[in-house]
Amino acid sequence: MKILVIGGGGREHAIVWKLSRSSHMDRIYCTPGNAGIAELAECIDVGSDKFDALIDFVKYEWIDLTIVGPEEPLSRGIVDAFQKEGRKILGPNREAAQLESSKIFAKNFMRRYGIPTAEYRAFTSSSPAEDYVRMKGAPIVIKADGLAAGKGVFVANTVEEAISAVRLIMKERAFGEAGNRIVVEECIEGEEASVMAFFDGKTVVPMASSQDHKRIFDDDKGPNTGGMGAYSPAPVITKNMEAMIMEKVMWPVMRGLKAEGVNYHGVLYAGVMIKNGVPYVLEFNCRLGDPETQPVLSRLDIDLVDIALAMIDGKLSELEIRWKPESAVCVVLTSKGYPGTYEKGKVITGLDELKKDNDVLVFHAGTAFHNGTLVTSGGRVLGVTALGADIRSAKEKAYRAVEKIQFEGMHYRKDIADRALKRPRD
Ligand code: AMP
Ligand code: GLY
Repeated sequence: MKILVIGGGGREHAIVWKLSRSSHMDRIYCTPGNAGIAELAECIDVGSDKFDALIDFVKYEWIDLTIVGPEEPLSRGIVDAFQKEGRKILGPNREAAQLESSKIFAKNFMRRYGIPTAEYRAFTSSSPAEDYVRMKGAPIVIKADGLAAGKGVFVANTVEEAISAVRLIMKERAFGEAGNRIVVEECIEGEEASVMAFFDGKTVVPMASSQDHKRIFDDDKGPNTGGMGAYSPAPVITKNMEAMIMEKVMWPVMRGLKAEGVNYHGVLYAGVMIKNGVPYVLEFNCRLGDPETQPVLSRLDIDLVDIALAMIDGKLSELEIRWKPESAVCVVLTSKGYPGTYEKGKVITGLDELKKDNDVLVFHAGTAFHNGTLVTSGGRVLGVTALGADIRSAKEKAYRAVEKIQFEGMHYRKDIADRALKRPRD
């Protein structure tokens, strides 16, 4: 088979790596890809926003299947465009992708189907939202409705902070049109986890659990990022909790969408906050998480192409999806300045030696070749992922590998997976 992967981050490197081990693979293409992906796939520069050009490419190269990594093309209807041309593509269509692209759509959907989520109100202008914030008091959470690259959520500890967030989004228009509407919601305190599941329009199968680390600094300090590291499995997702998330979240999403005439094919990601044993949904993503995909796919023990085809063809129930018993930990290395304006073009060294270690996978995110030299080209640069008998040994291996890598201004958290180590698995 020939497969095209859309995207160029750590998540897409992990997808391409797993595809490259499939017995079905003849050739992998990726757009735009990155320096790590280029070792496994032919990277092309078509642009994920140019649907017509992508479809032409797929026809010209006789590509059998396209897999979409990021949310942006999904929310703009790449799946609908490909399907109209009779091309096989994996991901939810535009309508279903609203679960991620509109927080108000997602909240209203959850309300309709009784999915546990924080209490909320939606607003289309600033002053009623400010009045509501004053009435509710802090802590309180303010969210831009549309896609804001993970930056449109403010957990405010004071009323003043919350009002500044409302104004930043609605008056200063920090996220443009994504801030035309906002959600103001109750702040829920608990333990956060990411649960992803495969959907085939009929069946839902949970993936191995994971946990992200969103803040830039150790001990969850500093601003939110796209994710500074992740591990799998997440001890907080016990077998019982997984069953509850399937029953209270995943299946109701599948049935609710179906009742509204939408079949969801692809991965759904639920970011949940577990409080008093109840999984409250903080957000949905209509795709694999980044960096969660790196540790999770490292543990996948069957062919990813089989899963992709089963998701498209409604045949998930015929597959036995297995995960390696080992644990995986991924530490993200970032450029100086991230998540704000960051430096680029710094030479990266130390990766060659790590290629010999079978337990370590270095997934590239923001990397490029400049005159034949590997350099940084993004905020999140690499995801150093290690497998070990348990979280502790995976963590040690990942950090040992991190110490071998260097680039100017390199930053990473030192406490990835510590949360899991503090709590025994039951
Ligand atoms: P989201 O993009 O909606 O997942 O929000 C980003 C981060 O903000 C989450 O990972 C949580 O840490 C935090 N967050 C979002 N909503 C809430 C909430 N209702 N209560 C507490 N924290 C929240
Ligand atoms: N790591 C969070 C996300 O992928 O949105």
